[in-house]
Amino acid sequence: MKLFSSFQVKNMTLRNRVVMPPMCMYSAENGMPNAFHFTHYTSRAVGGVGLIIIEATGVMPNGRISDHCLGLWNDEQMHALAPLVSECRRLGAKVAIQLNHAGRKCEAEEPVILAPSAIPFDENSKTPHEMDESDCENVVKAFRDAAERAEKAGFDAVEIHAAHGYLLSEFLSPLTNLRTDAYGGSTENRCRLLIEVLKAVHEVWPQEKPVLLRVSAEDYEPDGMHPDEMAKIVELVKPYVDVLDVSTGGVGRRLLRRFSPAIRSKSRNISDSRALSRPSPSASSRSRTTRRRSCAMSAQTSLRSAVYCFANRTGC
Ligand SMILES: Cc1cc2nc3c(=O)[nH]c(=O)nc-3n(C[C@H](O)[C@H](O)[C@H](O)COP(=O)(O)O)c2cc1C
Repeated sequence: MKLFSSFQVKNMTLRNRVVMPPMCMYSAENGMPNAFHFTHYTSRAVGGVGLIIIEATGVMPNGRISDHCLGLWNDEQMHALAPLVSECRRLGAKVAIQLNHAGRKCEAEEPVILAPSAIPFDENSKTPHEMDESDCENVVKAFRDAAERAEKAGFDAVEIHAAHGYLLSEFLSPLTNLRTDAYGGSTENRCRLLIEVLKAVHEVWPQEKPVLLRVSAEDYEPDGMHPDEMAKIVELVKPYVDVLDVSTGGVGRRLLRRFSPAIRSKSRNISDSRALSRPSPSASSRSRTTRRRSCAMSAQTSLRSAVYCFANRTGC
């Protein structure tokens, strides 16, 4: 059985092939990890997981999905993550961090949210600011700086989040990128920001450590991203990526609309039964519960992810 055999990519050797995917916990304040994160992640290391991918972590304050997402835009956050990483590693797990910019899906209390084009996610979302060249440069630098901090905090790998309709995914998708400059139009142009980010990460990320990339290969909209185009994008980014983490969805709401009534009622049953054994939540933890539930809904309406390792030419 391969699941329990070790797996190596670059200098990262996993004790088995059980990978904990990145899952937002919405439990941070000012992007800082706390006792909850320490317990949550080290428990998975105790449980025997081979690779833990820490949840989507904002590279800028307006790159967070919510006010309670982790961040890595300052050194304080880096110093707070370091003990968590070293304890998970001491317990035998390897640890990656998913670096993210939420783009137009930023729901944090931020004055300006960014996107390739000024199209809101839905009728309840803010209209994002269409990024100019200097915004693109700032985002690239923010990914680079966060990767540098991830290295200093001791992470074994970084995963660049270019899936689920967040900023880099918005640049890739023809549904959300209507630009007419060098960052829009052709597949190559829509891929430009992602390649700039990957190149910048490589300037600071050690050559011997792996870089993972998560993409959404299907938008579930006729005019959106489909696997054929994603295959072309993968060819373009291959020189900068060691492991490809293929997911789907998140750019539009079509799939969510289709499945959400059934999922919403199931997730309500789960959280209602949990609520029976818990004290009544405060307003802020209630909003976190709602967020976790809606995120679980959107995640479950994605197809299962598949992972491909370029170095070993294997799926895992
Ligand atoms: C509560 C929750 C939070 C999630 N947060 C993230 C995240 O931060 N980054 C990400 O890429 N995917 C996130 N996902 C998606 C998961 O990583 C995963 O892809 C999804 O649960 C489907 O599992 P599968 O890929 O094994 O089929 C989240 C899923 C859930 C349920």
